Amino acid sequence: MIDKQTIDRIIDAADIVDVVGDFITLRRRGVNFIARCPFHDEKTPSFTVSPAKGLFKCFGCGKGGNTVSFVMEHEHFTYVEAIKYLGKKYGIEVHEKEQSPEEIVRNNDRESMLIVSGYAGAFFTDTLNNTDEGRAVGLSYFRERGFPKKIIDKFQLGYSPAKRTAFSEAAIKAGYKEEFLVKTGLSIKKDDGALFDRFSGRVMFPIHSLSGRVIAFGGRILQTDRKTAKYLNSPDSDIYLKRNVLYGIYFSKQAIGKLDKCYLVEGYTDVISMFSSGIENVVASSGTSLTEEQIRLISRFTENVTVLFDGDAAGIKASIRGIDMLLKYGLKIKVVLLPDGEDPDSYARKHNADELRQFLDSAEQDFLSFKVNLLSEGINDPIKKAEVIHETVNSISVIPDLITRNVYIQKCSKMLEIDEHILSQEVARARNRHIGGEKKPPDKDEQPSIAEELPSVPTFVRNIFCQEQEKELLMYILKHGRENLFRTANEEGDEVIIRVDEYIIKDIKNDDLEFQNLQYKKLFEEYEKLLETAFDRDTPYFAQYFIRHRDPDISSVTVSLLMDTQMQGNENYTVSKIWDGTDSVTVSLAQAVPKALVAYKSKILTIAIHKLSEQLKTEDEEKQFVILEQLLQLNEQKKFISNYLERVIL
Ligand code: CTP
Ligand code: MN
Repeated sequence: MIDKQTIDRIIDAADIVDVVGDFITLRRRGVNFIARCPFHDEKTPSFTVSPAKGLFKCFGCGKGGNTVSFVMEHEHFTYVEAIKYLGKKYGIEVHEKEQSPEEIVRNNDRESMLIVSGYAGAFFTDTLNNTDEGRAVGLSYFRERGFPKKIIDKFQLGYSPAKRTAFSEAAIKAGYKEEFLVKTGLSIKKDDGALFDRFSGRVMFPIHSLSGRVIAFGGRILQTDRKTAKYLNSPDSDIYLKRNVLYGIYFSKQAIGKLDKCYLVEGYTDVISMFSSGIENVVASSGTSLTEEQIRLISRFTENVTVLFDGDAAGIKASIRGIDMLLKYGLKIKVVLLPDGEDPDSYARKHNADELRQFLDSAEQDFLSFKVNLLSEGINDPIKKAEVIHETVNSISVIPDLITRNVYIQKCSKMLEIDEHILSQEVARARNRHIGGEKKPPDKDEQPSIAEELPSVPTFVRNIFCQEQEKELLMYILKHGRENLFRTANEEGDEVIIRVDEYIIKDIKNDDLEFQNLQYKKLFEEYEKLLETAFDRDTPYFAQYFIRHRDPDISSVTVSLLMDTQMQGNENYTVSKIWDGTDSVTVSLAQAVPKALVAYKSKILTIAIHKLSEQLKTEDEEKQFVILEQLLQLNEQKKFISNYLERVIL
């Protein structure tokens, strides 16, 4: 956790024009600034920044927010990452929490390792471009492979000299500690204490973190006939965990977000060649089978993933398993099968950019259908066919979305010539078997506690008419008002009992809300008064008092409310249901009462959001920013509410 003061300082310091201006070119227009929207493709600028309000808004695609949300959206950062980014920009130190001495050492170590890696990256690119050996061996190799200079520079490709100690010696001479050279795996320490370069004589592919720092390297040998491995990679370390990283993501994240699609390839050179052909929404798993961490990383940017398969059958069958995992994450997966013997790199080199694009578009097919086709090809043997069906059932059963599952059940039943109902039953069984236990109803601990604070309605929302919800709350007050809701401690630490009426009234007052139905409002206020002045606080039932109230408005509304709840078969009100089972009343009230309050607020927010969104369409730009700010707030609260309601089971 970053402390609140630091966050406030950072947000106060951050200037929206300055922050946004680091990423796109803003032009002044009146009191605002405009630009072409970085979040969607457009020809005329509808992206607007208001320095006065500290907000941005695109009137084309609807994205809007403040400095923090801009950085989050644009860089695909988490909240904390965005705060840290801004902190760094404005020279405000961010301490996430008190750090233990060990943590400080570890973080310093990490930073030292990052610095060494950065140095190594620069050393290798410098060697590639500015030494005779680098140019003659490394640069000519890349040229031969058809990598344009622009792309070589962009990906910071490099060369590690053939002399076995060249890099290590240079690093030590430049003042870098042996410890970190070894920890990053850049240098290897022999038993006799001598330092050697891990990557000597290789062309270098630096691997970048999401935020663009060099965290590791892949080094390719030049002649593949040698017995040593074609690629050498940095070992896992404190700054590089292979399973967490996708090669190229730092360069492609922007395009992936914008095009809402990600191509997944196998190798360094595939990414680079696709980039050379102008396809920038591509990442590589770097030869290993895809990990869950990598999938989660992709899913931060898009849910559309197209996997590019090299055209050899053995390889395809091997990688199909990993792709099933993508289905489990709810991603929409397509595949492109490359012609026999080609990988994306070789294909891209043999064709121009347009041809590549056209090929990718036309060869793209749905993954599951592809898989079923592949497995069932030429199979007549019933036992083999049953295996294929089971395999298909497994794949479908991991898809989280019900509708998508059903679409596939229909489609695959046709492809496999098997009855749709049977397939559907099998999928259901497989779900119970594999993941049945996963989505259980929330257990007791996850349910909201009655004592926890309820979501609130911001003060700028007033006068929203929702009498159904007002009515329900009044019914609880009239029928169950004096019942105990829960025990808690007061400020002196004594145990006090909170009753239903006190709870509801206090919460509504807390939010400064007033009932809009005038009769309800009157009753509510009378009840409040009575509660304050009643001499016999243990009277079980205040309703009698209101039935006999001298104000005919109050007595008649009381009667009609009480009558309403007594009508049998009235499904609209939870009240009547609870009233029937007197034994379990208190237990249920602890859930039902907060829920009724939350439903009331939810309704208010929904109407308010609708009203404001309508208003947004007609107001001038200045006013729109005010509304936008309010909408952001309301949506925050709505999220809070749906989260709350999800946890309540009634
Ligand atoms: N790889 C690796 N170690 C190896 C072989 C492969 O780390 N010994 C990883 C690399 O990330 C490589 C990817 O797996 O980019 C795909 O391997 P491969 O298809 O053999 O390499 P290419 O990318 O096609 O490399 P090149 O075209 O240079 O032969
Ligand atoms: Mn290749």
